[in-house]
Amino acid sequence: MAAKLIKGTEIGELILQEIISEVAHIKGKYGVVPGLVTILVGNNPASLSYVTLKIKTAHRLGFKEVQDNQPATISERDLLALIDKYNKDDSIHGILVQLPLPKQIDEKKVINAIDPDKDVDGFHPVNVGRLMIGGDEVKFPPCTPAGIQELIIRSGIETGGAEAVVVGRSNIVGKPIANMLVQKGRGADATVTVVHTKTKNLADHCRRADILIVAAGVPGLVKPEWIKPGACVIDVGVNRVGEKPSKDDPKRMVPLLKGDVDFETAREIAGHITPVPGGVGPMTITMLMKNTLKSLKCRLGVQ
Ligand code: GUN
Repeated sequence: MAAKLIKGTEIGELILQEIISEVAHIKGKYGVVPGLVTILVGNNPASLSYVTLKIKTAHRLGFKEVQDNQPATISERDLLALIDKYNKDDSIHGILVQLPLPKQIDEKKVINAIDPDKDVDGFHPVNVGRLMIGGDEVKFPPCTPAGIQELIIRSGIETGGAEAVVVGRSNIVGKPIANMLVQKGRGADATVTVVHTKTKNLADHCRRADILIVAAGVPGLVKPEWIKPGACVIDVGVNRVGEKPSKDDPKRMVPLLKGDVDFETAREIAGHITPVPGGVGPMTITMLMKNTLKSLKCRLGVQ
């Protein structure tokens, strides 16, 4: 039987509607709205389309939104000064610097320069530490892992005692989602294995997974025989493998995206599976909005 699709677009939209009503309530009571700035350095097409979508979503939710695009040649010093400006701006509650950054800029220095209380990506070492401690300590869970956990919870997947296997050990997805699933609590309490490029017998590990989370950046890496029948498969890969005509305007070409899981064959084995696109991607943006709203609520001292 074909797997149930976990539709991030639909689940994300439900959460966005919740955010819209909270924003209206806060605006009415306190006269303020969440403020989000995205800083994009250079014009990488994928990064540009991600930040544009983030800003469009912020606008739709009634946030103050600032899309600050900078040339690829900006110096590290100027970028740090820009971050400092937004750190001091009381109308901005979330600062997102789109990664990756050009070579002349030290990514670590940039992340460390963001005020941890405005770090809605959850990449600052203070927020990474809070995530590691877990529970009430967590302020801004990183957006993609938070979106994955929300998809799992809202799809009714049992995580307590489940074997979760995470493919990939990046700071943005693999390490934080592994950390979140191993914590105590809802959508967690799992037994977690992290596998990566140096792992022996990758397929054997994956086959043991009740929950398989794949963030490897390798199109079609996971084959159907790597999947335990009935498993929940979360595909984080967004690989541009070519172009296709747009649905709205067939004369316009848009990127053809493929996940890290061979979707058509995997869906015959898995119990639940996320599509690409329309699975994890929209949830990342949704959780960014949730973190930005949370930042404002913390500032106002409301829950
Ligand atoms: N590049 C790829 N994913 C992300 C993300 O979640 N946040 C930022 N800032 N950059 C990214």
